[in-house]
Amino acid sequence: MQTITGTNISKAADLLVNGELVAIPTETVYGLAANALNADAVLKIFETKGRPTFNPLIVHVHDVNEFSKYASEVPDLVRTLAEKFSPGPITYVLPKKNNIPDIVTGGGETVALRVPGHALTLKLLSQLDFPLAAPSANPFGYISPVDARHVKDQLDGKIPYILDGGQCMIGIESTVVTVIDGKVVVYRLGGVSLEDLVDVVGEVELRINNSSNPNSPGQLKSHYAPRIPLRFGKMDALLEEFSGKKKAILSFTKNYSDDCIANQVLSYAGDLHEAARNLFTALRKLDNSEAEIILAEKFPEHGLGLAINDRLERAATEK
Ligand code: TXA
Ligand code: MG
Repeated sequence: MQTITGTNISKAADLLVNGELVAIPTETVYGLAANALNADAVLKIFETKGRPTFNPLIVHVHDVNEFSKYASEVPDLVRTLAEKFSPGPITYVLPKKNNIPDIVTGGGETVALRVPGHALTLKLLSQLDFPLAAPSANPFGYISPVDARHVKDQLDGKIPYILDGGQCMIGIESTVVTVIDGKVVVYRLGGVSLEDLVDVVGEVELRINNSSNPNSPGQLKSHYAPRIPLRFGKMDALLEEFSGKKKAILSFTKNYSDDCIANQVLSYAGDLHEAARNLFTALRKLDNSEAEIILAEKFPEHGLGLAINDRLERAATEK
């Protein structure tokens, strides 16, 4: 199959109507999309990514008003959050209606819904009479793509079309939340920070998932992993431990070029939004270096620093 990259929304729409896959840009990461109401089309996502089918997908719609078409209940707290953050990097897990096929939800009774904050994809969604199921457009377990080029590098020949919406402006996946007993519960840290959530709803509970926690089965512990082994922690200690090795270094503000063969500084200005935007591209670059090991620095534990640390922890190799 030939993979074409372009900005033709009608072409993308035609393919999706015909049950084909299209990579779509969002403000967080690129998604690998299919008609969420067509189980055969959705199955192709799992085959193409090599992703286990117990892992549920996010369903993308063009407007919050669409939620009630696919969710049997939309709590007031979700409406409050949506007013503030959607379209944007946040996903709501809600009780599902029967029109959502089991393959989308991993057989569960809930569906994850999101309005992506990207003009091209919102336009595409508003032209379709079905929502789009889309996980990140990377092979299962690898680094998420934040540029059309990254998708092409990994899925060339496997999908017919990549809708090119440029670089993803947030750069890290959406925050996944639900409402339990009148309280907002966070399943995955992402583009909307905990502080921003707390500002709007007062209090939130963290239930960040891993493979031993079934609430959000996609949150496997080993994820976002480069091919080169990665270690995560305090940079001084890591530098000492790996002094004899050919190193690549991922750092927040400090330049380590003299200590390694490849260094990516995510934000010289110390801006966590900029760091998040640069994270996955930087990891890819380091993974394409000749290093034996990637050393990644622990980020400040506030704002998007928490989501960045979560991704690096999952990318890290066990000791
Ligand atoms: O930013 C994003 O969220 C991107 C873009 C493409 O929208 N998508 C994305 O999809 O990151 P994926 O499949 O890589 O991650 C989906 C996350 C997983 O952690 C999964 O467990 C969780 O959402 N999820 C999906 N459906 C769920 C459900 N019904 N209940 C609990 N968690 C769910
Ligand atoms: Mg993913």
